[in-house]
Amino acid sequence: MDVDTPYMSKTFTLDGKTIPFQDGQTIIQAALDAGSYIPHLCHHPEFKPHGSCKLCTVTVNGRQTASCTMQAAEGMVVESETELLNAERRALTQMLFVEGNHFCPSCEKSGDCQLQATAYHLGMMTAHYDHFFPNRPLDASHAEYLLDFNRCILCSLCVRASRDVDGKNVFALAGRGIKTHLIVNAKSGRLADTDFSVTDKAASVCPVGVILPKKRGFAVPIGERTFDKQPIDVYVDSRLAGALPPNSLPQTGERDAASLRDQIKEEG
Ligand code: FES
Repeated sequence: MDVDTPYMSKTFTLDGKTIPFQDGQTIIQAALDAGSYIPHLCHHPEFKPHGSCKLCTVTVNGRQTASCTMQAAEGMVVESETELLNAERRALTQMLFVEGNHFCPSCEKSGDCQLQATAYHLGMMTAHYDHFFPNRPLDASHAEYLLDFNRCILCSLCVRASRDVDGKNVFALAGRGIKTHLIVNAKSGRLADTDFSVTDKAASVCPVGVILPKKRGFAVPIGERTFDKQPIDVYVDSRLAGALPPNSLPQTGERDAASLRDQIKEEG
């Protein structure tokens, strides 16, 4: 290679827009870096891809693939905002709603929930499918945190955060197929019997309302929360434009955890 050749960044197109990327970046990483939102639930910029929710599916040169696992390549023609892809995303989102028990109006995470915000973004008006109404437990054993498994979407973010960042393996996915479920890695199955702590990454990474701090609820009124103010795609864009802290999506649990830490300090 001619060493005098100036560095030319590689690009692909996403819905006709030119997206620069670096070798090793996935399509979604490059798109988000360039301020282009692709719906996603299990992608997080700090963790290895899990590729499970499939919300991030795009077409690459006409073939569907998950943009969080597919590496970007020079000259790719990627489409995301198509009627067909959004209809498929909407159906996947509807399935997530009926597989669990999501009571948005009374959920502490309403307005900060990425599942809810994504459903709004996709124009989901009803659950469409029959509700499973699964019988899922609550775990209130821990002094500071509550687990409400009803809302779990199996994104595995808490599993990856606890394993890869906290080095604790507090959470795991167990079972197969429709029986896959989130568990707490303790003989008793109770959060209180793990070394889970308020400062864990896993405490703040849940995109829905499974891992919630106790002793405070609805500190930010409904109507004043993240996605009450702006839709998820706009939120991501403003984050990327530097108006908000850098990250892919709001880690609202971090706000809760910080406030809980302050409260614990105040209480001595
Ligand atoms: Fe790609 Fe979930 S974000 S499969």
